[in-house]
Amino acid sequence: MRLTSRLLLRILIMTLLWIDRCSAVKWLALYRLKQKPWTQAQNCSKGYGLVPKQIKLCKQHLDIMSTVVHASLLAFETCQEQFANRRWNCSSINHVPQLTKDLVRGSREQAYVYAIASAALVHTVARACSIGVTTKCSCGSLPRSAPTGPFKWGGCGDDIQYGLYFSETFTDSSLSNKLKPKRSKKANMNRHNNRAGRMVVSQSLSVACKCHGVSGSCNIKTCWKSLPDFHIIGVTLKTRHALAIEVKTKRVKKKRVFVPLRPNLKTLGADQFIYYTKSPDYCSKDPEMGSMGTVGRFCDKNRSGSGGCRTMCCGRGYHTFVRTISERCRCQYVWCCYVKCDACTKRIELSTCK
Ligand SMILES: *[C@@H]1O[C@H](CO)[C@@H](O)[C@H](O)[C@H]1NC(C)=O
Ligand SMILES: *[C@@H]1O[C@H](CO)[C@@H](O)[C@H](O)[C@H]1NC(C)=O
Ligand SMILES: *[C@@H]1O[C@H](CO)[C@@H](O)[C@H](O)[C@H]1NC(C)=O
Repeated sequence: MRLTSRLLLRILIMTLLWIDRCSAVKWLALYRLKQKPWTQAQNCSKGYGLVPKQIKLCKQHLDIMSTVVHASLLAFETCQEQFANRRWNCSSINHVPQLTKDLVRGSREQAYVYAIASAALVHTVARACSIGVTTKCSCGSLPRSAPTGPFKWGGCGDDIQYGLYFSETFTDSSLSNKLKPKRSKKANMNRHNNRAGRMVVSQSLSVACKCHGVSGSCNIKTCWKSLPDFHIIGVTLKTRHALAIEVKTKRVKKKRVFVPLRPNLKTLGADQFIYYTKSPDYCSKDPEMGSMGTVGRFCDKNRSGSGGCRTMCCGRGYHTFVRTISERCRCQYVWCCYVKCDACTKRIELSTCK
């Protein structure tokens, strides 16, 4: 009896240590601090999911911390928006800094969450630089390449270089010990996907221009490198999730590297997402696998594919019911100055998975 309880305790402690070691996206917990100002070093607290190195960075970059908070919110919202009608719907990041199993076992979803978190950080910091949030960076440096049309490089572009630097420093700092980077399989995977996420952002840079000259004649045109809306980057990240590559480790000259599991895939791009644990189908509740199950999820019975009841409910069937909702209708503008509407009731059909 005493032996088993001691064994259980050891398993518990080992599990805790193991979970603690994959703390790299815990900073996403910052999304809860939307409106709080960062005014003093004491604000950089462990309670927010920051690891010691991130606390140090936080103290050195208090002026950027609200941008980091914005990044965590952007990653959070974009993930849930992109996966809203999937079985795995990104609800696990509601629990950060606690990490559920889907985010620690080396799955495709874990790859995606790490990538979107570091991508969001590049994006928000690069933007923050160009609007002057901090003195540590400013406008992006002008491209060295010659202009590809009748324009001059100028204006104030997003400082992607600083965004990349800050994102890497901040996200990878939880993947190293005091002196050197952690070399566990998990740390290597997280580091790879952090980088892949950053690359998605730098690959999405495009050219924005502004015309000058007499009444919009565009005699002179200046252009700069600018980032698209994060929503667009979110779409690319979701595609990368679908195309993620399953890998295994292999020793090459005393170094452990990842190679694709499927032998017909020869190379692994730095910008591809990688994972080494197959995901469950997320159909049934299985906390051990980080699966919440889809019982009770809303679905669309008229749709096939993702969001459709057939896919969402995994063949278990669904309940359909009618709900009456009230909405504004027959709106009219009343001079002056308001809009008057009637309240109309409408019957809508809803389905949830059995
Ligand atoms: C930082 O500390 C100040 C003063 O205690 C407090 O008002 C503010 O909400 C704190 N901000 C955060 C992000 O904790
Ligand atoms: C996401 O899935 C979980 C588990 O199936 C469910 O509880 C939650 O309501 C879903 N969230 C949304 C926004 O649909
Ligand atoms: C599904 O299609 C039926 C018939 O076309 C329609 O009456 C119903 O409102 C649709 N349901 C949903 C949830 O779109």
